[in-house]
Amino acid sequence: MLSYQHAYHAGNLADLQKHALLAWMLDYLTLKPKPLSYLETHAGRGLYDLSGPESEKTGEARAGITRALAEDWLPADHPLRGALDQVRDLHGPDAYPGSPLIARYFLRPEDEAHLAELHPTEHEALSRIGGFAHLHRQDGFAMAKAICPPTPRRGLLLIDPSYEVKADYDAVPRHIAQIARKWNVGVIALWYPILTDDRQKPMVDALRRDHPQALLSEVRFPPARPGHGMVGSGMFVINPPFGLEDEARRIERLYARL
Ligand SMILES: C[S@@+](CC[C@H](N)C(=O)[O-])C[C@H]1O[C@@H](n2cnc3c(N)ncnc32)[C@H](O)[C@@H]1O
Repeated sequence: MLSYQHAYHAGNLADLQKHALLAWMLDYLTLKPKPLSYLETHAGRGLYDLSGPESEKTGEARAGITRALAEDWLPADHPLRGALDQVRDLHGPDAYPGSPLIARYFLRPEDEAHLAELHPTEHEALSRIGGFAHLHRQDGFAMAKAICPPTPRRGLLLIDPSYEVKADYDAVPRHIAQIARKWNVGVIALWYPILTDDRQKPMVDALRRDHPQALLSEVRFPPARPGHGMVGSGMFVINPPFGLEDEARRIERLYARL
């Protein structure tokens, strides 16, 4: 039973960290005139309306992307600005791109994209904007294991689970170890929440043990509501592109001011 809906959280401070680093990596990887594969295990619907009832209800986007733009967190030439501006030109000033639309902005005709989304409503919404990609209505980890190593062989996999049950944290290191074994040149990026009860910690410890060369970047922020369990977020990137570490540290410094 899937109950998580990203529309309540799109554009929040956690999304901003993930999407800024994702856009940076895709920008970097598409500089080379060589085709690549882009894979996502948990794609979501791809396009969000920050004036919609879900976003209004939580106010998370106001504390996230809206504030970040007002305070110039993203320089005018930041790759995420390009994707955001294009989506707002096409869909209106309150539109916000999920990871699939960020990818669509950077991918070229010679690139291959595979997006998995299991929730029927989210998948149906994704199919309206996902014409650039192969869409899979199946478990994202199963899709990644079936496709990896992908063709073309260079590329990026984003893993962005909704962590609806505690078992998700236990399963992630195992899935990632299997995928990384099959695709040892792929950039594999995992997003995770930082929770007040540190539920993510054993998962992060296991990942660090298994992939000591990976890049780890964590940011902290105030909870969306008093008592809300998420107080930060992290990105764990295996085979990080050159220069990603500088961008990750720049973002960490911005969050440290909150
Ligand atoms: C955090 S949201 C994705 C947000 C998106 N990656 C973005 O940044 O815009 C997680 C999504 O995963 C979907 N989902 C949950 N379990 C899944 C599974 N086993 N396989 C594929 N998708 C799943 C949920 O329906 C939800 O839309």
